[in-house]
Amino acid sequence: MTKIFAYAIRKDEEPYVTEWKNAHKDIDVDYTDQLLTPETAKLAKGADGVVTYQQLDYKADTIEALDKLGIHNWSLRNVGIDNIDLPKAKSLGFKLTNVPVYSPNAIAEHAVVQAARLLRQDKRMDEKIARHDFRWAPTIGREVRDQTVGVIGTGHIGQVFMKLMEAFGAKVIAYDIYRNPELEKQGYYVDTLDEIYAQSDVISLHVPDTPENVHMINDESIKKMKDGVVIVNVSRGPLVDTDAVIRGLDSGKIFGFVMDTYESEVGIFNNDFSNKELPDKRLADLIARPNVLVTPHTAFYTTHAVRNMVVKAFDNNLKLIKGETPDTPVDLDKEF
Ligand code: NAD
Ligand code: COI
Repeated sequence: MTKIFAYAIRKDEEPYVTEWKNAHKDIDVDYTDQLLTPETAKLAKGADGVVTYQQLDYKADTIEALDKLGIHNWSLRNVGIDNIDLPKAKSLGFKLTNVPVYSPNAIAEHAVVQAARLLRQDKRMDEKIARHDFRWAPTIGREVRDQTVGVIGTGHIGQVFMKLMEAFGAKVIAYDIYRNPELEKQGYYVDTLDEIYAQSDVISLHVPDTPENVHMINDESIKKMKDGVVIVNVSRGPLVDTDAVIRGLDSGKIFGFVMDTYESEVGIFNNDFSNKELPDKRLADLIARPNVLVTPHTAFYTTHAVRNMVVKAFDNNLKLIKGETPDTPVDLDKEF
């Protein structure tokens, strides 16, 4: 009997795994709540394929452990593949799939809500209310419709973000290295990132973590931005030089920072430190700031998205096992 083994299945995913299992009674589906590591790879023994999601770095040792078990069909329940040693996977003959689009709205909506909360100084107001200080001033808000919003990356998520921001009445401008013809016709694009920096009150990143994009937000780019800018990163931590943003917050240049993804998040986000000392002092400092909104990479985390992630990943894995073309293969022959 064909067998699929899934790693790191959370309680909120279980109903969707069961839904898929019930619709595929001829497939043996088993899972664990543990992450895939070189040590836990053996749990998948006898399986024809594995389903995981992005939380750890999947280095050569993990990939080799699956290879030793003869498992080469690997489906991710998420978009990002930046944590996988892809050349190693390719050299060992793996077939990989991801779920590039499971709910762009989940991520875009989170970015918009957080940006709007920062503009209204909600965290400061919440803190005042908690200590029963009900005075209005000086915690005055800025309306979204008065902002020029600069969107870097107009792919799946960036486009939804643009629509939602426009629904609030913001003026939206955009930059992408590959222009979307529809958006181009509608006149959203500026020619350079410098124009985004110079004109935007809110700047939101919706680009992948590629070597060229690492630390695209740095001291130099921040210097080019408007005073009082809000920076939103719900994409990938390495896009932002966190120390540079802290310098911008300290100088008052940056009004606020939305940080759903953090360059040192691996091993911290989606873990419980509630009774332990946080090992990352910089993160503790950011969390304590009234104008920084930290969320632990949860922009994606909605019921809608999670169902799609599970169902699409299992569908993909079964197609790989059957030797069929999966809906969303990762092209390992491409240079990453
Ligand atoms: P996408 O591939 O649909 O779009 C990315 C766009 O960025 C493309 O249009 C590409 O041309 C453009 N781009 C790449 N480099 C650029 C650069 N230097 N300047 C301008 N444009 C550039 O991707 P997506 O699905 O919209 O995802 C966007 C980001 O969101 C990714 O980083 C992804 O990993 C992240 N993401 C985050 C979460 C979360 O929970 N926080 C969930 C899913 C995806
Ligand atoms: C992705 O799908 O790439 C994400 O960022 C969310 C994931 C880490 C669960």
